Amino acid sequence: KTEMNIAIDGPAGAGKSTVAKLLAEKLSFVYVDTGAMYRALTWYALENNVDVNNEGILNELLKESDIELVNESGSLKIKMNQKDISEDIRSSEVTNNVSYVAKHEKIRKEMVRKQQKLAQKGGVVMDGRDIGTAVLPAAEVKVFLTASVEERAKRRHEEHLSKGLPSDLALLKEEIAKRDQIDSEREFAPLKKAEDAIELDSTSMTIHEVVDRIYSIAAERD
Ligand code: C5P
Repeated sequence: KTEMNIAIDGPAGAGKSTVAKLLAEKLSFVYVDTGAMYRALTWYALENNVDVNNEGILNELLKESDIELVNESGSLKIKMNQKDISEDIRSSEVTNNVSYVAKHEKIRKEMVRKQQKLAQKGGVVMDGRDIGTAVLPAAEVKVFLTASVEERAKRRHEEHLSKGLPSDLALLKEEIAKRDQIDSEREFAPLKKAEDAIELDSTSMTIHEVVDRIYSIAAERD
């Protein structure tokens, strides 16, 4: 029997990737981080001084990009043309430019094609913005994970501090809100809850509570 697919969408910093990773481990599914794919192209564009608003050149760049998501000893590595860029794609420069890259229709079409291919055999937990609405509209389980912008900024701030990185809570809140706005207002496949998605507000839930909730939803559907 083929395994189900699980789609997790929601705004920036709601805990999607942490939850999706843990859930995938628990189910022995493959975790697919679609945000990392848009981030990889953004990193590559910045490296090559390509304007993130130039759809044509970005599309050329994407054609010569080999973006790989590799599960290596429990952690997910992102590679661009064989180079490990897992750390680079988390920089604030990439974070603050990625939503412009992700606005373009040609770019989205190609990314969606890659993502659908990764999920064609099932057994995938995929997180992003348009997974339930556009990438995997037939996913057996769809979750829309949210949290207040204050809580999301606070979590990211604490994550930075715990890694010894400099962090500015007010600025983080502004950047998160800005990214959500661009992602929600874009023309092609904007961030939106799928009609049949279950909305989970994680503001006052722990990561494990969220994982267990989705796990039981998946068990019910199986
Ligand atoms: O999930 P993450 O925050 O890493 O995503 C980075 C950006 O990539 C999002 O803010 C959004 O602009 C874009 N993205 C998207 N569609 C997806 C996943 C990410 O447009 N499925």
